[in-house]
Amino acid sequence: MRTVKSSRPSVASEENDNLRVILSSDHAGVEIRKLIFQRLQDEGWQCNDIGPEDLESVDYPVFGRAAAEKVATGEYRFGVIFCGTGQGIMMAANKVTGIRCGVCSEVLSAHLIRAHNDANMLSLGARLITAEQAWEIVEAFLTTEFDGDRHHRRVNMIEGVSKDQNRRPRTKS
Ligand code: RB5
Repeated sequence: MRTVKSSRPSVASEENDNLRVILSSDHAGVEIRKLIFQRLQDEGWQCNDIGPEDLESVDYPVFGRAAAEKVATGEYRFGVIFCGTGQGIMMAANKVTGIRCGVCSEVLSAHLIRAHNDANMLSLGARLITAEQAWEIVEAFLTTEFDGDRHHRRVNMIEGVSKDQNRRPRTKS
């Protein structure tokens, strides 16, 4: 596993734009998301936060999808999303073609979903981990490079699943 801490962006540039991070959550993740967003900004990451702003109940698929679409189009390099468990919003994000999102509750998984799965989104369970744990997980995720090599083939196979599904003939109703 390699980390890329030294290339952490601190000033706006074309290269840094490739490392832009988008954050979203449902109501359960608002507080922890705001803390992580602030810390990312403090540490010089190019990031954006698409809400929600307050604790009023919202539907996690709306916010998971919104962040995932911004990653899938290349507007942002990575997405970090939150809901109560991290699970529902992860499921929504993974429905967007090109998104590879995993839920992590500890640092090693965050390293490995980057190193082995080339994950482009990270999901966190706001009701399951502390803000400090969340920060360590986010940092590990954002600073680990994809190992490539044999993992390329497997990641391509994941992408092949959605391509095959989209090619399947529709049955008439
Ligand atoms: C909201 O109460 C909760 O269901 C949501 O945050 C998340 O845990 C779903 O997976």
